[in-house]
Amino acid sequence: MTQKIKRIALLTGGGDCPGLNAVIRAVTRTAILQYGYEVVGYRYGYRGLYNNDYIPLTLDTVSGILHRGGTILYSSNKDNLFDYQVEEDGKMVKKDVSDVAIENMKKAGIDALVVIGGDGTLTSARDFSRKGVNVIGVPKTIDNDLAATDVTFGFNTAIDIATEALDRLHTTAESHHRIMICEVMGRNAGWIALHSGIAGSADVILIPEVPYDINKIAEKIHQRQDAGRPFSIIVVAEGAKAKDGEVVVSKIVKDSPDPIRLGGIGNKLANDLEDIIEGHEIRATILGHVQRGGTTSTYDRILSTRYGVAAAELINEGKFGNMVCLKGDDISYVSLEDVIGKDKNVDPNGELVSMAKKIGISFGE
Ligand code: F6P
Repeated sequence: MTQKIKRIALLTGGGDCPGLNAVIRAVTRTAILQYGYEVVGYRYGYRGLYNNDYIPLTLDTVSGILHRGGTILYSSNKDNLFDYQVEEDGKMVKKDVSDVAIENMKKAGIDALVVIGGDGTLTSARDFSRKGVNVIGVPKTIDNDLAATDVTFGFNTAIDIATEALDRLHTTAESHHRIMICEVMGRNAGWIALHSGIAGSADVILIPEVPYDINKIAEKIHQRQDAGRPFSIIVVAEGAKAKDGEVVVSKIVKDSPDPIRLGGIGNKLANDLEDIIEGHEIRATILGHVQRGGTTSTYDRILSTRYGVAAAELINEGKFGNMVCLKGDDISYVSLEDVIGKDKNVDPNGELVSMAKKIGISFGE
């Protein structure tokens, strides 16, 4: 028998991402307008569940947020309640405090929880689901690296921003006859670099899935020079590495469940290239968190709204333990059990990479 749902909660976890507010708005509006549920939002991701820190979400609260990046519920990428830092006898220790969160939800009368996040946040969503909480997941990340959905929301906005950056680097590169390197995010997947590189007419695209040979990049730059084009645009994913090299780590965030932060390959590449090519000035731009901020793209506003409406519908149908996803053109859902640990990487022999090669883009091979 389906449980009678009266009150639902939302939380946003992990790095922020364009489209989070659009999902919050869509879940809230559908829940209130279609099903008459009461809606609340936990603040700062799972930390809010532990601290019982929530706010009511009403038609008024979610008004005017569709286009805005970030999250009105705030987020945290450090708080895993199954391995949570607490003070005990004056010492900081790690403990499983998930039962505290479950008790808090019971006391607050929460019948179902919508968790909007990437793989780390969704791992905890699955673990709460295993403990009997009525959970629905929504796939978020600019990296687009979740295998369980064709597209995560946030990716489209990120590639729009990166493409515009490449357009802007183009005009300055051309004016000074320079080599311009643009480092983009993506963790261990090259989706942002690949899409923005193709759309932003990069000459070289470097992705984690295709380790590069620096001499091949130099060769491409020389070829262009010989053909009368003394400038080049290189887009490099933060997780890219040389054939005989390692990824560049920018920092270790000790209290994060996923502590490694990539970054710095753009400057390394600039230095390495300067050592082997003459007569070119090289500049590196690290696009960084600009890719996650600002206004959400049209595509992401629509995808996030579709995900949010579908999440509320799954609650109404009692289909818990699932994550909404996109399959082809259709919104669908998949068990949270089949989401975790399944990354989606660029296929080096796939259509997009082959197509890019056919129009002369180098992958540094
Ligand atoms: O997963 C999204 C992402 O923006 C990655 O592309 C990037 O590696 C990471 O998060 C950056 O994390 P932080 O916001 O902690 O610097």
